[in-house]
Amino acid sequence: MKRVDDFRLRLGNKELVPIVVGGMGVDISTAELALEAARLGGIGHISDAMVPTVSDRRFNTKYVKNKLRQYKFNVANTEKAVVQFDLGLLVEATALHVGRTMEAKRGDGLIFINCMEKLTMNAPRETLRARIKAALDNGIDGVTLAAGLHLGSFALIEDHPRFRDVKLGIIVSSLRALQLFLKKSARTGRLPDYVVIEGPLAGGHLGFGMDWAKYDLVSIVVEIREWMKAQHLDIPLIPAGGIFTGSDAVAFMDMGAAAVQVATRFTVSKECGLPEDVQQEYFKASENDIEVNTISPTGYPMRMLKSSPAIGAGIRPNCEAFGYLLDSSGSCQYIEAYNREVALHPDAKKIHVMDKTCLCTHMRNFDCWTCGHYAYRLKDTSRRNEDGSYRLLSAEHIFRDYQFSTDNKIALPD
Ligand SMILES: Cc1cc2nc3c(=O)[nH]c(=O)nc-3n(C[C@H](O)[C@H](O)[C@H](O)COP(=O)(O)O)c2cc1C
Repeated sequence: MKRVDDFRLRLGNKELVPIVVGGMGVDISTAELALEAARLGGIGHISDAMVPTVSDRRFNTKYVKNKLRQYKFNVANTEKAVVQFDLGLLVEATALHVGRTMEAKRGDGLIFINCMEKLTMNAPRETLRARIKAALDNGIDGVTLAAGLHLGSFALIEDHPRFRDVKLGIIVSSLRALQLFLKKSARTGRLPDYVVIEGPLAGGHLGFGMDWAKYDLVSIVVEIREWMKAQHLDIPLIPAGGIFTGSDAVAFMDMGAAAVQVATRFTVSKECGLPEDVQQEYFKASENDIEVNTISPTGYPMRMLKSSPAIGAGIRPNCEAFGYLLDSSGSCQYIEAYNREVALHPDAKKIHVMDKTCLCTHMRNFDCWTCGHYAYRLKDTSRRNEDGSYRLLSAEHIFRDYQFSTDNKIALPD
């Protein structure tokens, strides 16, 4: 009976355990979690989502407070174009986050950064370039370009001295997205080093519409694999989304995948950034407690627990402090939805906004409980304490379970 450990992922001159722990913003895939994956010989991701905010929590910096002070005059204004990120400070925060993580790295694995291109930050190209360059300058092993895949991203960093040696990967959910990216970045003479193929059962934002259930990961992987073969392209393919056991992973490796990317099972690890009371919500969830909705102002559907406090909350937009989702003209779908509700209910003390959420604030506060489709199976991966709560697992336990399990079994903690 084959196990994931029978396979290895080859990236350049590296041989890795073919398990990639996917990026989970905002600091849900912490440095501690990524470091464990790397120590065990696989690949871990930190996330570059809202790094100044993450840096404040981790390193006692004051980026958010200072930005809010600078733009306080604009808080009641519905126009947010004036709220700009200081690129120097953004670089500084990324340097702290990436630098400290890389200094702590042990073992043979790699640490990548998940770069959410939908974090347009009121100046999409400039802020993206500053973030990726700062990550490269501070020794990151690889960059995975995610949500909102900006087709010109390779060109943004082609003059960087590490452009040819750092591992660069992309996340796609269709052959068409892959083809478009390859076509657009061909001019740089640089192919991605790996392609994550994310199916409709993943956590976070989905690269599908609300008809996500019509698609399945296996078919997309086969379609991309066959096209790559016909083009004589040999880029490692890494399926993601709903791979819950080592046996699920082996099935993809047998189909020609080079590795798998997994995330949801690690949301209940001790190293994960979610507060423990939220992790207990993940454990308790049943299938009916999970939905895919369109409350994210990015315009992409997102999967989450229906009990997420972010759903229906009507807080005033916090763009002066955060503002990570402001587009190039300073707009965000949540601002529009909020203003509409305020106009409809001018005397209401409390506003409810059902169709969109202030994602920056709610991700910052761990109030948007995004998860993969199989989060309802997390309860089967642990044991219960006497008080009925579930025991958190070590990242090592989960990683090794993926690596060594057979027969669709899941090892419970001792
Ligand atoms: C809590 C959570 C947060 C996530 N956040 C991100 C993110 O910020 N960027 C991203 O590209 N993918 C994100 N994802 C997707 C994962 O990186 C991964 O590709 C996917 O969830 C794998 O499927 P699985 O969770 O079923 O194992 C997130 C997933 C979860 C569960």
